[in-house]
Amino acid sequence: MKNPLFLLLSVFLLNSCSSDSESITSEIIETPNDEVWEVISIPESIQRTGDIEIGKDYLFSGNFMSSGIPFAVYNAIYGENSENPLERTGVNATIAYNYTSITAANGAQIVAPNCLNCHAAKINDELIVGLGNHSVDFTTNRADLEPVLTAGIIQFYGLDSPEYEAYEQFKNSIVAIGPKTITESIGVNTANKITEVLISHRDKNTLAWNDTPYITVDEEVIPADVPAWWLLKKKNAMFHTALNRNDFCKSFIGASLLTLNDITKAVEVDAKMPDVLAYIESIEAPEYPYAIDEDLATTGKELFNNTCSNCHGNYDSDDSFYPNSLVSLGTVNTDSELSNHYTETSLLNTYFFDWFNTGYFGTGENGLLLNAEGGYVAPPLDGVWATAPYFHNASVPTIMDVLNSENRPELWSRTFDDSDYDSTKLGWNYTVETSKQNTQTYDTSLKGYGNGGHTFGDELTDSERLAVLEYLKTL
Ligand code: HEC
Ligand code: HEC
Repeated sequence: MKNPLFLLLSVFLLNSCSSDSESITSEIIETPNDEVWEVISIPESIQRTGDIEIGKDYLFSGNFMSSGIPFAVYNAIYGENSENPLERTGVNATIAYNYTSITAANGAQIVAPNCLNCHAAKINDELIVGLGNHSVDFTTNRADLEPVLTAGIIQFYGLDSPEYEAYEQFKNSIVAIGPKTITESIGVNTANKITEVLISHRDKNTLAWNDTPYITVDEEVIPADVPAWWLLKKKNAMFHTALNRNDFCKSFIGASLLTLNDITKAVEVDAKMPDVLAYIESIEAPEYPYAIDEDLATTGKELFNNTCSNCHGNYDSDDSFYPNSLVSLGTVNTDSELSNHYTETSLLNTYFFDWFNTGYFGTGENGLLLNAEGGYVAPPLDGVWATAPYFHNASVPTIMDVLNSENRPELWSRTFDDSDYDSTKLGWNYTVETSKQNTQTYDTSLKGYGNGGHTFGDELTDSERLAVLEYLKTL
C-alpha cells in the first residue's frame, strides 16, 4: 500500500469571515495516488439543553403521540408482553417496548408506536436502545388491515365514542402512508417518505390535517438505514445527507406528525424534546461482545489513522477528533438516489423545503433549517460493529465487504435472527443468491438499493483489512 500522506491542495472559503451558520467550507483533498476528494465541512449548530432522566422517561413512556388504537383492541390483538426491557411502570410494563400507552386528550386509553419502533433493536437477544432497527418490515402495505380494524372499533365503541375520536387521526395517517411506503426488502426504513406523505396533508403553519393532500407524493420509495443514536453527540447535522441543520429537537416532533391534531400538541412536545436530545446524547456505543486481538488492533489503528481518519475522524483517547465531513457523491460514489432525491428540482422539493423552512418547524425561536448540498456524511464509527448492514441504504452486510468493493454480494439474504452475527467479517451472516428469493433478499440492482462506491479499502491487503476490522471492534 502507498503511504497516504494527505495533501491539502486548496481550501475554498465562502463567507469565511461571517459567523453565518450557512457558510460553507469546501475542501479538495488530494491523495498521493492522484485521487481527489471533495468534502464539505458541516458547520456547527447550537442545540438546546435538557435533562437526561426526564428525557429518557418521556421518550420511553411520554405522550408525544396523541392518537392510536384503543388499549383494549391493542391487547386483544397482541396480548400481554411481559419482557419489559425498558423497565417501564404501570400499563407500559405489559406492552411491547416499541409501543406506548397514552391517555388521549379526551380521556380515552390508547396505544401508539414510539420512536423505538425504528431506533432500537436486538443483538443476541439483548435490546440496544439507539441501535437502528435492522429488521423493520415495510414490505407490506400497512393500511391493508385498516378497514377491518376501523370496522371493529366502530362496532365495539361506536362512531361517537372517545375511543373512535382518539383513533381517527392515526387511521387517516396510516391510510395515507400505507401504499406509499412499501420497500422491496425487510430491514430498510421509509421514515423520509412517511414524513413527505404526512406533510403533504398538513398546513405548514397550523399543522392541521387535510384529507386531500396539498401536493401529490408518488409511490417510489428510497430505502434508508437508521443511524445509531449514540453518534448524534458528534454530529453537526442530522441525517445521512446532513439535511437537518440548526435545531435538532424541532425535527424530533416530525414523529408526532403521525398523530397530532393541531399545533398546540406540537408546542407541548417541542418543550420536552431538549430533554430527549440530552438523553439521546448520553447514550454510549455498545461494547463489542466477543474477544479482541489487541496486537492486531494496534496494527489496524495505524492503518486506519493513515487511510480512513481524514473522513471518519480518529478515536485516540487523548486527542480524538471528528471532522463532520459531507463527502461529495463524486468522491464516495455510493448509491446516489437518496442524495439526489433532495437536491433535484421538483415540485415536491419546492413544497418540502418551503414547508419546513418557512412554516412552524423552521421559524420562531428554535427553527430547524433543511439544507441539501448533495453527498453523504462520513459517519463516526463508534460501535460500528453493531450497525450492520452498512451504508445509508443498508446495502452491504458486513464491514469486510465495505472494505473490499469487488467482493460485495449483489443479491444476498439474511435470516433476520439477531444472533446470526459474523464476528470474522463483522456484520450479519448472509447467503449469496442468484435471484431474489423473497423479502429477506436484498437486491442491489434495484433503484436506491445499489452497493457500489466507497472504494477506500480496496487497496488494503486481506491481512491489512483484518487488522482494520480488529481495530474497529474497539471503537
Ligand atoms: C418510522 C421509523 C422512525 C421513527 C418512528 C423515528 N425515526 Fe428517527 N430516523 C429514522 C430514519 C430512517 C432516520 C435516518 C434518515 C436519513 O438519514 O435520511 C432517522 C434519523 C433520526 C435521527 C438522526 C440520526 C443521525 O445521526 O443523523 C435522530 C436523532 C432521530 N431519528 C430521532 C428520532 C426520535 C427522537 C424519534 C421519536 C420522536 C424518531 N426518530 C422516530 C426513522 C425513524
Ligand atoms: C473520502 C472520505 C472517506 C474515506 C477516506 C473513508 N470513508 Fe468510510 N465512509 C465515507 C462516507 C461518506 C460513508 C457513508 C457512505 C454512505 O452511507 O453511502 C462511509 C461509510 C463507511 C462505513 C459504513 C458505516 C455505516 O454505519 O454504514 C464504514 C464501516 C466505513 N466507511 C469505514 C471506512 C474505513 C475502514 C476506511 C478506511 C479504509 C474508510 N471508511 C475511508 C467516507 C470515507
